[in-house]
Amino acid sequence: MEKYAIRGGIPLVGEIDIAGAKNAALPIISAAIMSNETVTLENLPDVNDVNVLLEAIQRIGASVNRVDRHTVRINGSQIKGYDIDYESMKKIRASYYLLGALLGKYNKATVPKPGGCAIGSRPIDQHLKGFKALGVNIEDQGGFVRASCRQMEGAHIFMDVVSVGATINIMMAAARAEGRTIIENAAKEPHVVDAANFLNSMGARIKGAGTDVIRISGVPDFHGCTYTIVPDMIEAGTYMMAAAATKGDVVIHNVIPRHLDAISAKLREIGCEVKEGDDWVRVVATRRLHSTQVKTLPYPGFPTDMQPQMAAVLALADGTSFVRESIFESRFKYVDELARMGADIKVEGNVAAIVGISGYHGAEVSSPDLRAGAALVIAGLAADGITIVDDIEYILRGYEDFDEKLRLLGAAMEVVHSDAELHRFEAWG
Ligand code: UD1
Repeated sequence: MEKYAIRGGIPLVGEIDIAGAKNAALPIISAAIMSNETVTLENLPDVNDVNVLLEAIQRIGASVNRVDRHTVRINGSQIKGYDIDYESMKKIRASYYLLGALLGKYNKATVPKPGGCAIGSRPIDQHLKGFKALGVNIEDQGGFVRASCRQMEGAHIFMDVVSVGATINIMMAAARAEGRTIIENAAKEPHVVDAANFLNSMGARIKGAGTDVIRISGVPDFHGCTYTIVPDMIEAGTYMMAAAATKGDVVIHNVIPRHLDAISAKLREIGCEVKEGDDWVRVVATRRLHSTQVKTLPYPGFPTDMQPQMAAVLALADGTSFVRESIFESRFKYVDELARMGADIKVEGNVAAIVGISGYHGAEVSSPDLRAGAALVIAGLAADGITIVDDIEYILRGYEDFDEKLRLLGAAMEVVHSDAELHRFEAWG
């Protein structure tokens, strides 16, 4: 049993550094096995999802050497298997990136079909549509996707929905197909750009990543490289929200402020001061915030991965806010947990109507998923009294040193492993 115990009500003040982006690291680790030469990845976040994927590539024969906590050397020359096991996929959906990587390198791969997850049904039809367009034969066999072809050929692909995963997966495979591929209606997230930059560092010829249209000229081989992962915009955004909810003053280093524009704009709109420099942002909240409307959209819109954290802040703002979730259908599961802390939120369809309250009170709550878990911690930091957040393994999937960093900002928060530890925390202070 690992839980966060939080004594709320302390404004967060101080400075922290942001880690590399989990959602860039996952496709980049997968793509690294496409070279037979050694690839060195720097600024890798030390989070569970990344570590699980590193184990998964080792299981198919890649060598993985950790140089230090955030640097790893990967060599894919000894890969023996093209089948990804169900255990890997169960632990981390993003192992579907190995489909694009293995297809690109060996023209064959088998991966378990990822099921739905806490935030929605999450099909992979667009990934498969792209692979088929490249000439790949896809068979659905007993819960596995078997993909193979003699040689992929470039194609003109129009995505029906804007999908980060499908854009990157198709881009990886197409980077080694024969001829030219054009992906239209591509996702534009910073991690799509980072994955493209990484592939180009290995010798791929990809242009236009970060726009709606990505153009790829296939190359026969990749070489080794050293690459530094982009900073995690969602981790940064989460601390920005924590500063706002606790009426704090937090400087967040190692960020690309432009990636945070949608988040900064919303925080300014509700009454926070947001300042930025070359690689830092500072969020200051001194008075009660006010309500607004938020709609999640693909980048550069407001990210769905920030929706729960934003709602946790808006629950404390003056007036009624409306949050519309347009990417994942089941992303309001945390609302009932926030209600246990006093929030007044009603969900109808994909819209949450949030009536601002004057403050949260501590309660025992469970994280339904990664970002929702972070939102509950934010609420706990702002709450009067003690909050216990259960199921923190979801949070550990994506946040490096979450409790340490929050303590650095002054939070009174511990990981507790037993009732005895919890009682000690409750008795203290
Ligand atoms: C990635 C992120 C996740 C983030 C999401 C949206 C990773 C590991 N995860 O997930 O944190 O919340 O982007 O920014 O990077 N869709 C289809 N068919 C497909 C693929 C997607 O219909 O084949 C739909 C999804 O159901 C969803 C929308 O497209 O409604 C966007 O999903 P997508 O961008 O693919 O999300 P992921 O890449 O899975």
